[in-house]
Amino acid sequence: TQAAGISTDIVTLTRFLTEEQVKVREATGDFTLLCHALQFSFKAISHYIRRATLVNLTGLAGQSNATGDDVKKLDVIGNDLFIAAMKSSGKCALLVSEEEEEIIYFKTPQGSARYAVACDPIDGSSNLDAGVSVGTIFGIHRLAEGSQGTKEDILKPGTELVAAGFTMYGASAQLVLTMKGGGVNGFTLDNSFGEFILTHPDMRIPKSRAIYSVNEGNSLYWEEHTKEYFNSLKFPQGGSGKPYSARYIGSMVADAYRTLLYGGIFAYPADKKSPKGKLRILYECAPMAMVFENAGGQAVDSKMARMLEVVPEHIHDRAGIFLGSYDEVEKVKSFYK
Ligand code: AHG
Ligand code: MN
Ligand code: MN
Ligand code: MN
Repeated sequence: TQAAGISTDIVTLTRFLTEEQVKVREATGDFTLLCHALQFSFKAISHYIRRATLVNLTGLAGQSNATGDDVKKLDVIGNDLFIAAMKSSGKCALLVSEEEEEIIYFKTPQGSARYAVACDPIDGSSNLDAGVSVGTIFGIHRLAEGSQGTKEDILKPGTELVAAGFTMYGASAQLVLTMKGGGVNGFTLDNSFGEFILTHPDMRIPKSRAIYSVNEGNSLYWEEHTKEYFNSLKFPQGGSGKPYSARYIGSMVADAYRTLLYGGIFAYPADKKSPKGKLRILYECAPMAMVFENAGGQAVDSKMARMLEVVPEHIHDRAGIFLGSYDEVEKVKSFYK
């Protein structure tokens, strides 16, 4: 119902999850509980990011993490908030975080925690002090039958993910969620309600769009194929003749969110400086790939293998990545043939 343009039938994330749970016959409600904990961590992280400049939360924490990044104060807080949320849900058996060298195993009564979670608590943290959009990325796996939670439960390809998504902390907090075999749904945090509201149901990425997003400062290190591909976007031969627009924020979450909405291509290719790529498979590449595929797009690594089929050997393993509109990724592939 609607009066004076006011919707009174609001789909909150809580309502959405409850309705989804009803659709799955053998659902126990565990996944819903895990998601409630997840959304609380997003609200809390969003709160501290927005207050950071006022309460001395800008700047470095003074250490580096497992993949060699300088850790920011907010990386630590985001990580602690995420861990606390997963622990208190009682449904998470183990957690991989960008900011934790090793897997964290949670003590839970036997059989009560059936999920393994991977997260990038704050993605794009080099942008934090400038107030530029950052995000949290997550991927959720189910434990193997009878498992109490081992590293094999998380060192799995993205095809096994039961759910994945991210929250971008931009002008508003935007949560994007996808589940196995389902579509992609976007929610906006309404600060006055304290609820994520379904604002972008069934998101579909445009089939093509002339926008590219890549750190061009790395082009000195790029392989020939990569150079040729990006040159073809900037200096089109014959045909349409119009070059692509460049957009690069430097937060994967923000660049990917824009790409999901507007279409185009986002890339962080492997290069001579980072032969394995920069972005990490478990908590950056695979969750994003699941979102993009379920929205009708594609994601591949630098060898043009389907990103969701890449199996990490170690929890912090990296890959090159190209993701975006279906036709734009087809174009990438044609250059690497
Ligand atoms: P994080 O802040 O979680 O360490 O991730 C940084 C990533 C990603 O957000 C972004 O796409 C990329 O690093 C930017 O890297 P460059 O600064 O090398 O362009
Ligand atoms: Mn980092
Ligand atoms: Mn990141
Ligand atoms: Mn991070």
